[in-house]
Amino acid sequence: MSSPVLECQSVHKVYVQGKESIEVLRGVNISLYPEQTVAIVGASGSGKSTLLNIMGALDHPSSGSIRISGQDVHGMDEKAKAKLRNAHVGFVYQFHHLLPEFNALENVCMPLLLRGVAVKEAKKEAEYWLERVGLSHRLKHRPGQLSGGERQRVAIARALSPRPSCVLMDEPTGNLDPDTADSVQALLWDLVRQNQTAFVLVTHDYGLAARMDEQYSLKEGVLAKVDRNSL
Ligand SMILES: Nc1ncnc2c1ncn2[C@@H]1O[C@H](COP(=O)(O)OP(=O)(O)OP(=O)(O)O)[C@@H](O)[C@H]1O
Ligand SMILES: [Mg+2]
Repeated sequence: MSSPVLECQSVHKVYVQGKESIEVLRGVNISLYPEQTVAIVGASGSGKSTLLNIMGALDHPSSGSIRISGQDVHGMDEKAKAKLRNAHVGFVYQFHHLLPEFNALENVCMPLLLRGVAVKEAKKEAEYWLERVGLSHRLKHRPGQLSGGERQRVAIARALSPRPSCVLMDEPTGNLDPDTADSVQALLWDLVRQNQTAFVLVTHDYGLAARMDEQYSLKEGVLAKVDRNSL
């Protein structure tokens, strides 16, 4: 079997606020293999975003280990982590997190340029991905000039364009109206099926969750595999 693209071992996360401490994650284990797709469901406040941020080395666990493409994130400085993320991980958030002063094309180019891809090639690649998400006609629009669904499509193109080994998505359609959410979900499902990328999708949409290879539920700090039919 090939080695995991992402691995969490005994991940704990405790938030301390004054005299109170909340243990949000209590020993989470998960391994994500190449091209594997995983859905994580759980109530609001159960720690899904916390876990996803830790998986992508945007936040650090209180204890436990994270390996991205076999490399232990512990002890790495921010620069090394950013480089590792850029090489292997794509993110799509509930709120698009696009750079407001740059247009769609430039936003999608950004991770490629950070990786050292030449401008011309980055633009070509970005155009390709924006076409795949149905936005060829919006290349020069800045985020403020795009609809909510269009912004999420740009964010998806940005996450996929560097062809990362895994993409982490935190309720990517949670902030859209139901019709727009449906169309973005249909697009996501097409991309998930067609890509040689591993996906972790945090979602409240059980229909979409059930279509992934594996389903997990996060409850009281514990991540447990669940049967798709019990969602
Ligand atoms: N920086 C922080 N400091 C203290 N507590 C925090 C912090 N971030 C999150 N929490 C707490 O940790 C818990 C988990 O938060 P998290 O955002 O991971 O939940 P979630 O499952 O993503 O919820 P939602 O579905 O609403 O997005 C919550 O109770 C939250 O209040
Ligand atoms: Mg969340």
